[in-house]
Amino acid sequence: MIKAGIAGATGYTGIELVQLLHRHPQAALHWITSVNSAGKPLSEVHAVPWNYPLITLEEAYARAAEVDVVFLCLPHGQSITAARTFAAAGIAVIDLSADFRLQSAEAYRRWYGLEHTAPELLPSFVYGLCEVNREKLRTARLIAVPGCYPTTVNLGLYPLAKAGWLGDRVIIDSKSGVSGAGRTAKQPYMFVEANENMTPYAIGYRHRHIAEMELVLNGAAPGGACHFTFSPHLLPASRGILSTMYVRAPDGVTETQIRDLYAATYAGEPFIHLLPAGQQATLRHTVHTNRCAISITADDPGDPACRDFIIVATEDNLLKGASGQAVQCMNLAFGLDEIAGLI
Ligand SMILES: NC(=O)c1ccc[n+]([C@@H]2O[C@H](COP(=O)([O-])OP(=O)(O)OC[C@H]3O[C@@H](n4cnc5c(N)ncnc54)[C@H](OP(=O)(O)O)[C@@H]3O)[C@@H](O)[C@H]2O)c1
Repeated sequence: MIKAGIAGATGYTGIELVQLLHRHPQAALHWITSVNSAGKPLSEVHAVPWNYPLITLEEAYARAAEVDVVFLCLPHGQSITAARTFAAAGIAVIDLSADFRLQSAEAYRRWYGLEHTAPELLPSFVYGLCEVNREKLRTARLIAVPGCYPTTVNLGLYPLAKAGWLGDRVIIDSKSGVSGAGRTAKQPYMFVEANENMTPYAIGYRHRHIAEMELVLNGAAPGGACHFTFSPHLLPASRGILSTMYVRAPDGVTETQIRDLYAATYAGEPFIHLLPAGQQATLRHTVHTNRCAISITADDPGDPACRDFIIVATEDNLLKGASGQAVQCMNLAFGLDEIAGLI
């Protein structure tokens, strides 16, 4: 049995992890933390029947030796000290925040506006996109779980990037359910503000998650860098992300070749659902699952030389976009069946 702790168990990703680990056949929860609800049982804070006591992060530091792995479900900026403390105690760290996703303190400062206080740890963290970094994850002790939007975009475009077929510009239009913003009350995420509304935010080349697209997709591309115009929207749904991506393939590349490329890249992947021609990936394909669904459509069905394609990728932001992917990473890092607890 893998002994696990969760820092930040009362948030949306934290409670999702509690549920996943509770039913995982080879993992057991040993402690869970909260700031505001420390001292209470979890069942007083969330609609679950389990009375796991919530402890403070400081108590968790003192009890680090009780666990093999800790999941950090904390706001970005708050994971750094926790990661350093648990790593120093020899505990595997799986961080769901953005604190260790980028490769340099400079990139972290540029996109997050914060000084990184443990830059020496950055090279030791493996970016936890399992379909891309599986072999590195098998030996990882420090893992940075990818962001929710970038998981759809990176999985949706990775085959094209790796083949050098992504071109120099991609336009991405993404929609996220409100749980993507976390459980802390903020005005744009209140029911009356979000319901029956749709709000674009940080559109263009602005959103922090572009850094992860550049990291994965430009990192995989054999040629020059691609520019990502990324427009996220707040969707009036509890969970789920749908990203629609507009790409121009090189001259002579056909829809059949693109479909074959995706099928070959993702052959045997347990959590990638490629839709057949004529079907579109929807939120229903993925919400409450650890899957990413991907569909491919030629812009002009009457033009056999059409080079413009529309890729749609969907996921559950709290599962494949966060806690499910985190468990998938744990399974790989601890030599378990990759799908354990996730099917
Ligand atoms: N939501 C998503 O879809 C999603 C997807 C991918 C990645 N992420 C990332 O995952 C992380 C967690 O997201 P979330 O949506 O679960 O956030 P959340 O709902 O706001 O929960 C945050 C958790 O962190 C705890 N916390 C807050 N400040 C803390 C501090 N200073 N010290 C210790 N604990 C603190 C909170 O404890 P109390 O409230 O109990 O005091 C709560 O348990 C974030 O970095 C987020 O960007 C989120």
